[in-house]
Amino acid sequence: MAHVHDVLIVGGGGAGLRAAIAAAETDPKLDIAIVSKVYPMRSHTVAAEGGAAAVIKENDSIEEHIKDTISGADWLADQDAVELFVKAAPSELIQLEHWGCPWSREPDGHVAVRPFGGMRIERTWFAADKTGFHLLHALFQTSLKYESVKRYDEWFVTKLLVEDGRCQGIVAIEMQTGLMQPIFAKSVILASGGGGRIFPFTTNGAIKTGDGMALAYQAGVALKDMEFVQYHPTGLPGTGILITEAARGEGGILVNKNGYRYLQDYALGKPLDVNDPRHPQLRTMELGPRDKLSQCFMKERDKGNTIPGPYGDVVHLDIRHLGEKKIDKKIPFVRELSKNYAGIDPVYEPIPVRPVVHYMMGGVHTDIDAATSLAGLYAAGECACVSINGANRLGSNSLVEILVFGARAGRHAAAFAKEHGQVNTTALAAQAKDEQDRIRKNFLTKMDGKERISTIRTEMNSTMETGAGIYRQEGPLQDTCKKIAELKDRFKNLTIDDRSNCFNTELTTALELENMLGIAEAVAHSAVNRKESRGSHQRSDYPKRDDEKFLTHSLAYRTSDAPRIEYKDVVITNWPPAERTYGEK
Ligand code: FUM
Repeated sequence: MAHVHDVLIVGGGGAGLRAAIAAAETDPKLDIAIVSKVYPMRSHTVAAEGGAAAVIKENDSIEEHIKDTISGADWLADQDAVELFVKAAPSELIQLEHWGCPWSREPDGHVAVRPFGGMRIERTWFAADKTGFHLLHALFQTSLKYESVKRYDEWFVTKLLVEDGRCQGIVAIEMQTGLMQPIFAKSVILASGGGGRIFPFTTNGAIKTGDGMALAYQAGVALKDMEFVQYHPTGLPGTGILITEAARGEGGILVNKNGYRYLQDYALGKPLDVNDPRHPQLRTMELGPRDKLSQCFMKERDKGNTIPGPYGDVVHLDIRHLGEKKIDKKIPFVRELSKNYAGIDPVYEPIPVRPVVHYMMGGVHTDIDAATSLAGLYAAGECACVSINGANRLGSNSLVEILVFGARAGRHAAAFAKEHGQVNTTALAAQAKDEQDRIRKNFLTKMDGKERISTIRTEMNSTMETGAGIYRQEGPLQDTCKKIAELKDRFKNLTIDDRSNCFNTELTTALELENMLGIAEAVAHSAVNRKESRGSHQRSDYPKRDDEKFLTHSLAYRTSDAPRIEYKDVVITNWPPAERTYGEK
């Protein structure tokens, strides 16, 4: 029996679930489906720790949140999108509370907020340091209320079905049976997260392979601002597990091998006494933005001030002075992770940390309504680029982004589905058959391949880190572009051993690698073409921001050869570009 729906959502994390709820709320008669390669509660949203930003306190304002986001983005964010986002944020978080998210409270019962990097006023709501878990749980249990929302759990999407210039469904592998089937829909939302796994050292779960971005890229939709990849300054060495910025928000400090708070040397302000009357308003040093803190780590390393370790150099994140009681109340997960994965108890010892790939600011190019250039196709969350994050996202904006733009995607995709007639299942079924044949021929029945998944993936990871890491320059970036092209070519000669049907994870890992090579290509080419330094994209050969030439979004289009890079103006409304300064209000 054919699977046919009105709205189909690819991805069961925060953005996907929020989109499903919004679509269901627009009309109970709409038939909605979520297809996800993992069970929804295993989506990467669950791993978010520190919190979600929205204006709620009297000392804060919409204007201040907008300004922080725009300057954090190094002026590459679209200001109409940022304004809409910041205005919608408080009601989304209150809505989450009504759906059961247990926001941490002040002693008097008001919602508590904590400071976060690059936010000059405390506005990050949190649920201890397991915010993503609670947020995802609230969304998931709410989605279960709607009978019109069906789920395809553990189905792996391999292709978008496009006919008559309109996206009309997908092809997916049901992982339990190996059956490859089309699922038809009048509109499709991509909400499948980012692709940090193209890098070797990342906070991203193994599932974050950029699948939604790759599906759109393959279908001719542009990937926007892909050169902007965020390093979070505090990952655990070895695993890359995130030690949340909340540890610094609550008062943790970063010190080098001499026990010195090195951030004071990098124009991020000076150490401030907690009794200083300016303290709540003047966020300094450890509460600077992530791009700058990660760059400071590299500079300290170059000066020989970092601490060598078995997994590379580290600095120390010291939270001992917070005391056991506060640590256990506000950041218990930091303690749990440090004990389990670094073998140290941060109540008594500093935590070794180093920068780690955390987030992709770039993604599927959408407008403010989450619509892509392909009719019927929408995208939201980390897989999309609206853009509110520009060249550097501020911590705690993304959990809100998935809510605000997930909901918008749901509503707009629902409206599209209601305005458009049934899909042409006959024509689409032929396309689906071609896709099944491609997968059988290239992977399941191919006998003469020589290349291995692990070899290609390791080489991809390594060239991305070497050429497109925290600091970049022309020669290594060009080498990375060439290397990715070579790996794409060698991928054609891939072999897999498992030819079975039931949970063939070797096949899905191969398909994920194919997706990652596509987005790695977009990252490397967008980076080589942006000859300036802005936010997370630092070119040692072009160390200055160049607004004259590059106050523009990059758009990477797939071709049969290297991607074609085009540019699109940034939307500037009320906040003209200025120098980015921290440590002063
Ligand atoms: O450090 C963190 O808790 C990360 C938050 C975020 O990426 O928004």
